[in-house]
Amino acid sequence: MKVPQLDLNLIHAPILEELQKTAADVIQSGRFIGGPAVEGLEKDLCQQLGIAHAVAVSNGTDAIVAALQALGVSNGDEVLTSPFTFFATAAAIVRLGAKPVFVDIDPITYGLKPERVYDYVDDGVINGKKKSQHNSEHTKVRAILPVHLYGQCVEMDPILELADQFSLMVVEDACQAIGSAYKGRPAGGIGDAGTLSFYPSKNLGALGEGGMVLTNDEGVAEQVRMIRNHGQSEQYVHPIVSGNYRMPALTAALLRVKAKHLPAWNRMRAEAAATYTGMLEAKGLLDDVIAPRVEKDRVHNWHQYTVRVDKRDDLRTFLTAEGVSTQIYYPVPIHMQPSMKHLGYEKGDLPESERAAREALSLPLFPGITAEQQDIVVTSIKKFYDKHR
Ligand SMILES: Cc1ncc(COP(=O)(O)O)c(C=O)c1O
Repeated sequence: MKVPQLDLNLIHAPILEELQKTAADVIQSGRFIGGPAVEGLEKDLCQQLGIAHAVAVSNGTDAIVAALQALGVSNGDEVLTSPFTFFATAAAIVRLGAKPVFVDIDPITYGLKPERVYDYVDDGVINGKKKSQHNSEHTKVRAILPVHLYGQCVEMDPILELADQFSLMVVEDACQAIGSAYKGRPAGGIGDAGTLSFYPSKNLGALGEGGMVLTNDEGVAEQVRMIRNHGQSEQYVHPIVSGNYRMPALTAALLRVKAKHLPAWNRMRAEAAATYTGMLEAKGLLDDVIAPRVEKDRVHNWHQYTVRVDKRDDLRTFLTAEGVSTQIYYPVPIHMQPSMKHLGYEKGDLPESERAAREALSLPLFPGITAEQQDIVVTSIKKFYDKHR
């Protein structure tokens, strides 16, 4: 590949020695679960992100499970979320015995559209169809789980207002949005709780798996600390049943090394994103390719630079042949997944999500991508549209 989607070796090269020394120190410490490395990571990220509490866990999926459980979501509850996200968002709801309710997204941010959330909470309506007999007095809806997809925050204020009006909990899936912000508030620190993923391809990627629950509420943080450790309140006393969601010390220690670089890496991503948009414009491609747009009141961490295009699959095949690696996040919206069939959604129920699943294409973006590499990407896109317009 001339242009990979992501180049982790390039990112790690300048810090390789520090990572190796850190790993050696953890091995010698003999402390492999929890302890100073995990506490240190939690403190570092609280400070860096401006959020009061951070609880490190095993991965982003478990972070969502733990956050929902800490906020009281359980068997039979409904949790409203987006179908245009990684499957884990919905799977986390199902793991608690709760039911995901999918409502449609905003085509600019790709996140939950507040009006669609309101339609369901107030009247059980999804895309104009009455889907539930509940009314706002007798509702099973317990929480809203907005996803800050590709790194851009969902329009949170109307969601928080209706959560307040209907006494609902809000958990932000900020797994892709570390370092992003909405109206000056940090992603993951806006709702009752938020979650991060440190999957290796994330802006802050672990050398393995990792996740975190963020919250400004000390009581919620305390609950999550118990939940990550088999619901244990003191040794061998378990008031609740949960799971083992602990983070290894090695993961935490290596993440601490990488976290120092996150602000610079996010700036480099933002610069590369601006370069893409400038190049697409300069080559007259903005009619063929809809470039991502950042809402004025948001800081975007540019986890992905995702364009919308017609003939997306043909373009992707063409780019692969040109040596340009791209990704489709996500080709099948979750309400159309085989495992969600019993929920009764039909094709056409969530049109914006389904359109996004047909049109979205994420271009290569990582700290250190060169202007030459980006030029290869954009020149290849132009070649395609010169042939197929
Ligand atoms: C939006 C979103 N939610 C949840 C997850 C789950 O995180 P993890 O893979 O760390 O379990 C991811 C990442 O993979 C994600 O991108």
